[in-house]
Amino acid sequence: MNYVRSLRTLYNVPIAKELCAQIYAHSEKCTNVLDMGCGTGDLTIPLAQQLTSSVVHGCDISVKAIEEANKASGQVGNLDFSKQNINELPKSWAGKFDVILMFDVLHDLQDPEIAMKQVMSVLKKNGTIIIVDPKVSRDPLNNVGNIQAAHALTLSTWWCVPSSSCNCGSGNGVGWENKEAFLLRIPGLEIKSRVCLINSDYNYAYICKKK
Ligand SMILES: C[S@@+](CC[C@H](N)C(=O)[O-])C[C@H]1O[C@@H](n2cnc3c(N)ncnc32)[C@H](O)[C@@H]1O
Repeated sequence: MNYVRSLRTLYNVPIAKELCAQIYAHSEKCTNVLDMGCGTGDLTIPLAQQLTSSVVHGCDISVKAIEEANKASGQVGNLDFSKQNINELPKSWAGKFDVILMFDVLHDLQDPEIAMKQVMSVLKKNGTIIIVDPKVSRDPLNNVGNIQAAHALTLSTWWCVPSSSCNCGSGNGVGWENKEAFLLRIPGLEIKSRVCLINSDYNYAYICKKK
């Protein structure tokens, strides 16, 4: 976990910059922004520091991650965190968010269908949702020559696959190859574009709108 975090530290600020550019390009309003599955807030914090006119909320199912995120966020005034399960988001959040980010979360979910239904319910009409998930093949042979994908598939076998398999869950992990087909089936969700963040074919971002 710490190893992965230290690698990501190098990229969080440039990734946050690119995400902000996408948010400004696709959203008329970005007053309320949600980072769904924010973990320890490593990306949420630079995002809030750049989205100075927004209120950014990060949430995650892990109490420990939220405690760490709260500690790390220090003086950032336009940011807060709460513990939430994506499958049971608060009713008071209905239609609340202009922009929702799900960074490296989709493939970890036990029931992506229920989760996306909930996420869509807290997104405003015409709101923007950015779903970033690594482009990795389930077949290790297809990842030969792509060090990030090979590395991610290895990590996923002892991290993402087990966590997404709990409670008879999906067991998708990063090698979930047909996630675009899954996204296309979500009622009310429209994929507007697909972009590679920080010039890497690995961090694949789906920029979507709620119809
Ligand atoms: C790979 S981490 C990504 C964290 C963060 N978005 C980032 O990129 O730094 C996936 C996160 O999804 C969270 N998660 C998994 N299932 C969840 C659920 N049912 N509800 C909320 N968060 C969940 C995990 O706790 C974990 O922090």
